[in-house]
Amino acid sequence: MITAMADPNRFLHGPFAPVEEEVTAFDLPVTGSVPAALNGRYLRNGPNPLGLDDPSYRFREGHWFLGPGMVHGVRLRDGKAEWYRNRWVRSEQLAEAMDEKWPAGPVHGDMDFAANTHIIAHAGRYLATVEAGPLPYELSGELETVGPCDFSGTLPGGFAAHTKLDQGTGELHAIAYFWAWAHVQHVIIGADGKVVRTTDIPVPDGPMMHDFALTPSYVVLLDLPVTFSLDAVSAGLKFPYTWNPVHQSRVGLLRRDAASAGVRWFEVDPCWVFHTLNAYDDDGRVVVDLVRYDAAYDVSTLTGPGPLTLDRWVIDPAAGTVTERRLDDRAQEFPRTDERVTGQPHRYGYSAVIGAVGHATVSPVGDFADEAFSNALLKHDLTAGTVQAHEFGKDATAGEAVFVPAAPDAAEDDGYVMAFVHNPDRGAADLVILAAQDFTGEPVAAVHLPARIPLGLHGSWIPDK
Ligand SMILES: [Fe+2]
Repeated sequence: MITAMADPNRFLHGPFAPVEEEVTAFDLPVTGSVPAALNGRYLRNGPNPLGLDDPSYRFREGHWFLGPGMVHGVRLRDGKAEWYRNRWVRSEQLAEAMDEKWPAGPVHGDMDFAANTHIIAHAGRYLATVEAGPLPYELSGELETVGPCDFSGTLPGGFAAHTKLDQGTGELHAIAYFWAWAHVQHVIIGADGKVVRTTDIPVPDGPMMHDFALTPSYVVLLDLPVTFSLDAVSAGLKFPYTWNPVHQSRVGLLRRDAASAGVRWFEVDPCWVFHTLNAYDDDGRVVVDLVRYDAAYDVSTLTGPGPLTLDRWVIDPAAGTVTERRLDDRAQEFPRTDERVTGQPHRYGYSAVIGAVGHATVSPVGDFADEAFSNALLKHDLTAGTVQAHEFGKDATAGEAVFVPAAPDAAEDDGYVMAFVHNPDRGAADLVILAAQDFTGEPVAAVHLPARIPLGLHGSWIPDK
């Protein structure tokens, strides 16, 4: 099913509008005080067309997910906000368009692309990541493009932007999907920056697998009915992953200690999931928290009726069942935990209510209640069953928030929650830092950046070593 009701150019306007230049600024003004313990970089990636008139990036034929990546970063050290930088990721096409020499490197499947979805650090590299086939791009600590990265020739294809770090082994887990494959692939990249194992998992129809989850026992796969569509290719859709009603929705468990035994699948009701919050083992069962789009969702046009909600799935291998429970019915996205609890039971989760994103991606036609335009960060206490909202103003769009522990051995939730938030008074972004345990209180710090930051996708706090 291909729906095209929404304005295909809606991601070029308002809070999504791309910025037109790269900026470098030092010694940034701060309201409040930057915690002295925060030594590192907050980096965030997102699509940013090079210019609105560039035919390569005209969204009439394109897609929000196809704008070249631009990484925005703030360097914090010793209580100071040392710098802000934003830089495009230089793919070959982008470097040519900018009259620069491309830092050449490997290309998978003829799909060189300026990775635009996430930025992580692994094995001493800063990596901009993206899905559907292209390789990640390595950046320097000052956000200059080093080049595409295939981990010294050990990575067979790309991998999707959402990765999970095994806190015990230091190994990075990822899922790769690519339209020309009859499988998806689980990839483990060692702490030394080389792929140590890949496992091919046969799946029909070429599903999009944007995210997954990891527990000590399992890799949790989401095989949902958004699949590669030749009809969508023929129709000129540039991100041809459409709702496929005949594709069975299912969640899969790949045993980490017996990957060759294959995946055990469990059927679930038709739905779409971009993001998991976290997952963990629970006495033989597997608990997965995720943001779920009810019923059909067409990623090729980023349209669907919703609603989207924070849900908990409990997979019971002994009973062969998945039970679903609603945790929060507020429309929210970009769920994150304290990454030190990846794969372990989590008490807290953080997510974002971004009215503009909800309006652009769920039921984008029709009247929206005022709250649909609200801007807030949420903190979920999933043990107490409570949620706190840090509300921002009407036009103060907040992006994804990341949690940063106050110290390496601090308790879960003892730390900071940071996000880029648009400051409508200045027409520019702030890096807002909340104390997680005083979530609705005044921010600990707001670092005032010299430029607007478009609503984008994912990021990381990358501490100094
Ligand atoms: Fe994502």
